[in-house]
Parts: sequence; structure tokens; C-alpha cells
Amino acid sequence: MPTKTETLMARGKAFLGSEYAILCGAMSWVSERNLVSAISNAGGFGVIACGAMTPELLDAEIEATKALTSKPFGVNLITMHPKLFELIEVCHKHGVTHVVLAGGIPPKGSVEAIKAFGAKVLVFAPTLALAKKLLRSGADALVIEGSEAGGHIGPVSTSVLAQEFLPALAEDHLVFVAGGIGRGEAIASYLEMGAAGVQLGTRFAAAAESIAHPDFKKAFFRAAAREAVASVQVDPRLPVIPVRALKNKGTEEFTAKQREVAAKLDAGEVDMHDAQLLIERYWAGALRRAVIDGDVENGSLMAGQSVGMVSKEEPVADIMASLIAECEAALNKR
Ligand SMILES: Cc1cc2nc3c(=O)[nH]c(=O)nc-3n(C[C@H](O)[C@H](O)[C@H](O)COP(=O)(O)O)c2cc1C
Repeated sequence: MPTKTETLMARGKAFLGSEYAILCGAMSWVSERNLVSAISNAGGFGVIACGAMTPELLDAEIEATKALTSKPFGVNLITMHPKLFELIEVCHKHGVTHVVLAGGIPPKGSVEAIKAFGAKVLVFAPTLALAKKLLRSGADALVIEGSEAGGHIGPVSTSVLAQEFLPALAEDHLVFVAGGIGRGEAIASYLEMGAAGVQLGTRFAAAAESIAHPDFKKAFFRAAAREAVASVQVDPRLPVIPVRALKNKGTEEFTAKQREVAAKLDAGEVDMHDAQLLIERYWAGALRRAVIDGDVENGSLMAGQSVGMVSKEEPVADIMASLIAECEAALNKR
């Protein structure tokens, strides 16, 4: 007999081809071959974060991930990447089965280009109207991500998004819920509300298999929920997407960076598109400094509010087992 969790995850599992409908959301620098394969090997669904990688680097990363797992995994592409269509071609070459388009509305032809080689497309949508439009125009599944999440965030909390999106969409569409999920009890409730599955990032970032620097992981183990704060927009003309990260010198430097980019905008040295790219490049560099170099003072310690529930380094399989056990226990108590 299937467990209650299995029953509620059935649609999501069938779509992902994994044992559990639990995605590890792509995290730039963190979600590379080691973590991605560990997640998929543990029954979850790993997603490579392409971030600012070149097509050549993505090619190598997919190849290396395939060598470490025979289970399905996905690739997350940022829609504003200047070589998006080349990256899609790399996914095609490797027969990638699931592509996640993140960071904005998918540009014209991108969803079609992915579907043309038979892969499934997952998209993010900040509003219900946009979600409906994307699902109508070919997206196969939706991720709703609340402001509790780590990394780039929208303004609305997961609990509100879930109430807005799930009753409207969950019957006919696959919706995965992300942001602020630290334990299986929360997974149980989103599944009961109709979610096909969930996506976690923060909970897995400091797992044993994550290549993140030991000091990055230590910062996670020490941090409380209230220390994972959203960045503040400095200039009303420069709409920066807020980023949730642990408070440090790096978060203060971002304020200075915004002023610098706004000044370039004023001087006509860059247009709005380039200004936003400069900001995004700043984050990619700052995140690398923290994740890879272990510079936890000046780098960006992107983390969600669930960081308060991450207290020690655990293998991915143990984290997955706890989440599933907590979820099942919660459902059995109902
Ligand atoms: C360190 C870090 C880096 C992230 N980088 C990306 C990214 O490159 N692309 C993306 O779509 N989401 C990114 N995210 C968001 C995650 O994929 C995921 O949706 C989020 O972490 C889920 O919320 P949680 O952190 O509360 O579990 C990042 C999150 C973290 C913590």
C-alpha cells in the first residue's frame, strides 16, 4: 500500500520521474554536479544552476552530473542570460529532460525551443494571471516561490501564494511550492492544499555533499531565521530584485553597489538593461566569494528564513529521509 505521502506526491513524482516530489532548487555555485547528483540519487530531483555559466561550462557540468547519477535531474537557466538559446541547445544535446526557466518572463520562443526536443519546462510566475498565461502557452509546471526563500525573491510570502495559486491551478496543473520549507510538516500541508510537490534550497545548501566552503556552511548552522534578510532598494529608478541573504558586510556593500550603478545610469553610461545585468553580475561574484572562497564577511550568504532550522552538516539522504518521515507522521496524525 502506498504511504499517504506517496499518494499525495504521485503526480509530482510521475512528472519529475523521481522517487519523491522534492526538488532541490537550483542555487548558483552550490547546485553543481556533486549536490545535484546526491539529491537525485537520494530520490529527490536535483537541478543544476547554470547561472552565468558559458555554454561550454554547462556542457561539462551536465556531462559530469550524468557520470554521477543515472536518475533524472534538471537544468535551471536564467532567462536574461545573453546566450539563453545556446544554453538550450546544450540541454538538447544532452537530452536534458527538465528545464527550469528562472529570473523573469521566458523570452519569445524559449519555451517552444525546449519543448521541441521533448523536455518539460518549469517556470516561475509572480502573479496568478501570468501563471495562467505561461501554462496556456506551453509551460508544463509552475514553481511558486515565496519571499521566505533564499536568493532572489518576490514580495509575497509562500503561505499567501499557496492560498492564491493552489485552489485556482492545482487541479489542472502541476504546481510546486518553494520558500521557507524546513520540515516535512510544511510539505504535508502544501501537498494537502494541492501542490504536486515542493522545492527546497536552504535546507540542502549546507548538506555534506554540497561543495560550499566549510565557513559558508558554519554561517548557516549558526544563523537564526531573523538574520536572513531581504536587500533594500536604494534608487527608485533602479528596480533591483531583492535578494535574501545572511546579514554581513557584503549586504552593506550591495547598497554601495546600487549607488554606483545608479550613478552610471544617471551619466548615461549604461541603459536600464545593462544596469540590471551589472547588479546581477555583482550577486554572482559575491555569491562565489562566499560559497567557493569562504569569504563570509564580504561575500553573499544567500539563505532563506529556514536557515534557522539548519543546525548541522547532514548527508542529503538523511535530510530527505527526515523530511519524508515528518511529512508522513503529520499526515498520519490528521
Ligand atoms: C544560495 C542560494 C542560491 C540560489 N540561487 C538560485 C539560482 O541561481 N537560480 C534560481 O532560480 N534560484 C536560486 N535560489 C533559490 C532556490 O532555487 C530555491 O527556490 C529556494 O532556496 C527555496 O527556498 P528556501 O531557500 O526557503 O528553501 C538560490 C537560493 C539560495 C539559498
